[in-house]
Formats: sequence, structure tokens, C-alpha cells
Amino acid sequence: MVGMELTAELFLTLSMVCFCVGSKVSVLSSWHMDLFIGAVQQTEDSNPGLEPLAVVRSLRRTASYEDFFVRHFLGEINSTDEEVLSSVLKKYYHHHLEELGLDAAPRLISVLRRENFRELVNASLLQTQVMASLDVYWRLRGETEVVQEVAVEKMVHEGVQEFIHRYIDCPVIIPRCQWRARPYRGTPTRLALPLSSMFIHHTHHPKPCHTFQQCAAYMRAMQSFHQDVRGWDDIGYSFVAGSDGYLYEGRGWQWRGAHTRGHNSRGYGVAFVGNYTATLPAQRSLEQVRGRLASCGVSGGRLVGNFTMYGHRQLVDTTCPGDALYAEIKGWQHFREIPSKQ
Ligand SMILES: *[C@@H]1O[C@H](CO)[C@@H](O)[C@H](O)[C@H]1NC(C)=O
Ligand SMILES: *[C@@H]1O[C@H](CO)[C@@H](O)[C@H](O)[C@H]1NC(C)=O
Ligand SMILES: *[C@@H]1O[C@H](CO)[C@@H](O)[C@H](O)[C@H]1NC(C)=O
Ligand SMILES: *[C@@H]1O[C@H](CO)[C@@H](O)[C@H](O)[C@H]1NC(C)=O
Ligand SMILES: [Zn+2]
Repeated sequence: MVGMELTAELFLTLSMVCFCVGSKVSVLSSWHMDLFIGAVQQTEDSNPGLEPLAVVRSLRRTASYEDFFVRHFLGEINSTDEEVLSSVLKKYYHHHLEELGLDAAPRLISVLRRENFRELVNASLLQTQVMASLDVYWRLRGETEVVQEVAVEKMVHEGVQEFIHRYIDCPVIIPRCQWRARPYRGTPTRLALPLSSMFIHHTHHPKPCHTFQQCAAYMRAMQSFHQDVRGWDDIGYSFVAGSDGYLYEGRGWQWRGAHTRGHNSRGYGVAFVGNYTATLPAQRSLEQVRGRLASCGVSGGRLVGNFTMYGHRQLVDTTCPGDALYAEIKGWQHFREIPSKQ
């Protein structure tokens, strides 16, 4: 069963890439998955008893997606597995976190795909694989000389570094178009990068959100509140962490936020959705910010390597980010005390 799930995961990752590239970015990826699962179910319904491997074969034939790579991996599916593919897909894509929380979630679910991917690949492996693929490609075309060239190796190296940054160092950050943000009002101010700090907040209201739909709705509500009630140009935070396993893009890496009065030009404001006075977000959500977002910022040249982390209350008269969360971040590597409040 594990082999089946891993192979399905690999195949789905590949198909998602194809689906996403060919579609409008504003359309939610979960909608694509529903369509895909629908197509799988239809194939299963019209061919009762069809084994998962055969379902996948029939789907990939329809999509004209039948290259060596796919054949190589799909060939390893254990065709004696009895679970139908649509149920594997539902477990993977529709796992409900609400009951158990992110820390208790199984490993093979879609929100953890980047964590899993990180364990499977590294720069040297990718470099070797890409060079080997290029070698095959050029041999097929009868151009055996090209792959020897140092320039190609250098180019692949640069591409791999960029890929590693984007898909391994960085966490999944849901872009504004996906949570259906309104446009920025007025003219945003570009930050002078790299910045030297990250400020941690909690949103206080409402309860933590455990699904993409809840978190996206909350992002929209918070943006409306900041724009219409507070009279700001946009949602104040640079990034927002949900309890659904995702980070959400607020003002992002490039634009100055409105989160930590008097300090918005020197740091990013990152808020956890929820009231963390007495309890903490899931360890996995904390790690998304403490580890992933931070290393993404540093390797992308947005944060200095020795950046400092502060709780909102250290700089402004507020209880934010809540007693429990504040006690937690005090143990983080980049946390710094401030001699006295200004
Ligand atoms: C794969 O199928 C073989 C029988 O063909 C079986 O012995 C083996 O346990 C299966 N492996 C998994 C992971 O289900
Ligand atoms: C990269 O991954 C491969 C395959 O998992 C492993 O053999 C190798 O030791 C890894 N290299 C580094 C530098 O981690
Ligand atoms: C936040 O949590 C604390 C401790 O549980 C509670 O006293 C406070 O009323 C909560 N605030 C809101 C806005 O719910
Ligand atoms: C970070 O490093 C820079 C350059 O080495 C140094 O000037 C700065 O004081 C350091 N900042 C902190 C907070 O240690
Ligand atoms: Zn705050």
C-alpha cells in the first residue's frame, strides 16, 4: 500500500504540474484535484473491477502523458493492491485536519507534500539526474558532444539552485490570487532588501483555521477589515500562518507592511491565525515559520543571515503575540531581547 501511495504521489505531482501550468492561476488548485478525482471515479465506474494501475494507464493515455519517466515509475505500481485509486486520492487530497490537527496527521497527505519532497531530493541528486536526462536527450538526437560542456553543467547548477530555493528551502506560500485577495489600494512602498528582522504576531480573533477554505475566507475578511475599517492600503501582515499547513501571502517579500508600528520598513510581520494566549499552534505550523519561512527569506536574499526575531509586544504596547506564543518564540534561535521598550 505504501508503494502504491508513493507512486501515486509522484504521478500526481507530475500531473499537477501539467494541470497548473496550463490553467489560469486564479483558479484554485483544489478545484483541479476535484476534477481529476472525478475523472478517475468516472473511469472506475465505467470499468468496474479495473485495477488502479489500469486506471492510471487509461488516464495517462487520454492525457497523452506517456513518456519514459512516467512509464518507469508507473511500471513499479504493485498491481495486486486492492484499494481503488479514487479512495487513495481522497485520502491524500481530502484529509481532514480538523479532528486531529496537523501534528497528528499522517505523512502522505497533500499539505505535507513539500516536507516529503524535501526528504527525497537534494541538490547533488538533482544535478546528477538532470545531467543524466540531458545525456539521454542528446544521445537520442545524436548530439553527444554538448553534454560535456562545462557551460551546460554550470547552467544546470544554477537552475537546480533556483529550484531548490523555491521548492525545498521555501514552504508552500498560498499566493494572493489563490485566496482571492482584493488589489492593493494606492501605491505600495518597496522594501530595501535584505531586511534585518521578523516580527511575530497572533491574530487574536478568530479560532485557528484548519482548511484552505476557512483560512482563505479569513484572509479575505482580514483584508476587508484592514482596508475598510482601519483604512489601510492592504492586509497589514507580510505573511499569515494558518493551521491548515499553509502560509498565506499578505504583502509578501517585496512590499512594506502595516504590522509593527514604527518598524515596518525593517522587518516582515508574520501572524499566526488564532489566540495564542494560553495554547500554541501545532508544532508543524510553528516550524513553517521558525524554520522554513526564515530559511526561505535568507536564501532568497530577503532577510540577512543573522536576522533578529521579535514578538510584537517587545516593540509596541500590546499583548500580541499572546503569552504562550511569546514564551515559545523566546526559545527560537533568532529571538533577541530588547534592552528597554521605546
Ligand atoms: C506486492 O505484490 C506482491 C505479490 O505480487 C506481494 O507479495 C507484496 O507484498 C506486495 N507489496 C506491497 C507493498 O503490497
Ligand atoms: C542526496 O540524496 C541521495 C539519494 O537519496 C543520497 O544518496 C545522497 O547521499 C544525498 N546527498 C547529500 C549531499 O545529502
Ligand atoms: C484569548 O485567550 C485567553 C486565554 O484563554 C482568553 O482569556 C481571552 O478571552 C481570549 N481572547 C479572545 C479574543 O478570545
Ligand atoms: C549581522 O551581521 C552584520 C554584518 O556582519 C553586523 O553588522 C550586524 O551587527 C549583525 N547583526 C546582529 C543583530 O548581530
Ligand atoms: Zn501583533
